[in-house]
Formats: sequence, C-alpha cells, structure tokens
Amino acid sequence: MNSISGLEDDEISSFFESSPPLKNKEEIVPKLNRFIELNFSGQGGKRIVCVTSGGTTVPLEQRCVRYIDNFSSGNRGAASTENLVKAGYAVIFLYRRGTCQPYCRFLPDDPFLECFEFPDANNIRVHASHSEAVKMAVLDQQVAVAEGCLLKLPFSTIYEYLQMLRLIATALKDVGPCSMFFLAAAVSDFYVPWTSMTEHKIQSGSGPLDISLAQVPKMLSFLRSNWAPKAFCISFKLETDSKILIEKATKALQKYKVHAVVANELLTRKEEVVVVSSSGNVVVRRDSDNPKSIVEDNLIRLIVDRHSTYIKESHT
Ligand code: PMT
Repeated sequence: MNSISGLEDDEISSFFESSPPLKNKEEIVPKLNRFIELNFSGQGGKRIVCVTSGGTTVPLEQRCVRYIDNFSSGNRGAASTENLVKAGYAVIFLYRRGTCQPYCRFLPDDPFLECFEFPDANNIRVHASHSEAVKMAVLDQQVAVAEGCLLKLPFSTIYEYLQMLRLIATALKDVGPCSMFFLAAAVSDFYVPWTSMTEHKIQSGSGPLDISLAQVPKMLSFLRSNWAPKAFCISFKLETDSKILIEKATKALQKYKVHAVVANELLTRKEEVVVVSSSGNVVVRRDSDNPKSIVEDNLIRLIVDRHSTYIKESHT
C-alpha cells in the first residue's frame, strides 16, 4: 500500500504533538497488551476486533465547561460488540463515557432508580418487571469479562479517542489479518487546537462567541497505511440526505482504502444499512417479521464472513 503524503503525515504528527497527554496511558497499555496476549498468542488464537462507539467531544476551554458533541447513542457499537463476542471474537470496546453499553440495551435509561426496590430498610431487590433484563445483562457481561473476551476502554474528547485508537492499532499490529477495526464512533471533523484554546471558562459578557475550528486530520488513511496495515478495516458513513449517502460511502471506500464502508441514514439506521465494498453494495435489513431482530444481527454475520475470506486470502 502507498504511504500517505508528507503533508497529511505532518498534520497528523502535529495533532498528536499538540494534544494534551492521555491521562491514564500507563494503565491502558499493560491492560491492552495483556488482553491481546491472552486472546491471540495465549489460550485461543482468537480474532480480535476494536469496536469504536459513541461520539467524540471537542472542548472549547482547557478547563472544559463547554464542548461541541457528535451524535451517537452508542447503540450500534454495543449491539455489534454483543454479536462479535457471540461469533467468537475478543472485543476491545472503545466507547464514549455514558453511552450505551454491551448487554445493557434492554435496561431502562436509569437502571439503578428504575430496576431496584427496597422491600424493607435492610434489603434491596430487582423489581419483577425488570428482573429478566437485569439477569441477562449481568450474566452475559460477567461471562464475557470472565472469559477475557471483552475489554472496555472509555474516552470523551477527540484527543483521547485518537490517542487511544493509535495505541490499540499499534498494539494489534502483530495480530495482522486476524485483527479487525469496526469504526462505528462518530468522530469530530472540526476541533479547537489545544494550544490555541483558552484555559478558563469563556465569558459570556464579551458578546457573541466567535470561534474558528481547525479540521481534524482524517486518521483512517494512517490507520490503514501505518498503524495496522494488515488489519481488516470497516468504517462507517452517516448522512441525513439519502441522495448523497452511497456516493459519499463509495468515495470514502476509495479514498481510505478500507475493506468496506457501512452506509447509514440517520432516520433509518436501525432498520437498514448498506455495506459498500469493491465486490458491490449489499443492503442489510433487520428481519421485520421478528420484533427482537436488530440490523446488527445480519450486519455482523456478513462482516464476520467477509473477515474469514480476508484471513483465508491473506494466508494464500
Ligand atoms: O450510535 P447510534 O445512535 O446507534 O448510531 C450509529 C451511528 C449512526 C453513529 C453509526 O452507525 C455511524 O454511522 N458512525 C459513523 C458516523 C460518522 O461520524 O461518520 P463520518 O462521516 O464523520 O466518519 C466516517 C469515518 O471516518 C468513521 O468511520 C470515522 O471513524 C472516521 N473518521 C472520522 C473523522 C476523523 N477525523 N477521522 C476519522 O478517521
């Protein structure tokens, strides 16, 4: 694969050099290495996937009070993680703090307040109406964590997300074709560079706010060419105008040389997606005659299948 241009290279280096350092890097790196060791080299020779989920924030102040957010509930990432664990993958779930978690999709928004009740002062119990959902959430999550096939790493800002994605990608380099990136997170396209950001809360007394946002360098090309060139890579394209969706996804496929782009429209994203790849476009829908079916059941089946073919072809 061709390496990306020097200009992009410089933009990416200067993004990382000017980013505030990742606070808990010393904790993350050994956790990540242990997880990869256990799942790939150790026990099982499992495939490992990094699922990104939720939206990144762009702080407007260094001691952040205000920020710009990117829309994503985290549902796609959480549901895909569950299906990938079921398919035998070890999953690194890189998620935005506070967004939807694997195995928790059927819990109410405020599980602690809505699921539990106190029959008397010394006891707490799950309300009968939520007991099945709580039991499944606890059991499934405990099994995934106990078997060592789910590692959850949270982020909030664009700085944290991209630094963590780079750490994960470089740590997965030796896993080669058996590694996958499933990039469902909604990543900020614009940001305020840390070095030009005001330290303290912006004062409203000074009149209308006039800020200039720089473009976040696209990391996909770099992930493909440098960080993890042998990994199977799936990116996403979200649009609100269905007329431009497939064209934009096709352009992204060609530009970033990913293996497939999952195209989705905001309003219909839970009903159908289109998997755009060099072998053609495939519409994937949830089974409308089964109320429990979700689009990720069929999407992950297709992606796992494509990944298997990719691994086979990489060995020949
Ligand atoms: O979470 P849900 O509510 O369930 O919704 C799921 C979803 C709609 C958020 C998800 O299916 C989805 O489409 N996620 C990607 C949305 C997006 O922000 O697309 P984009 O066009 O900005 O980015 C396209 C790709 O480029 C993404 O895979 C992203 O990881 C990558 N990117 C983006 C910006 C950037 N600076 N660098 C990147 O590498």
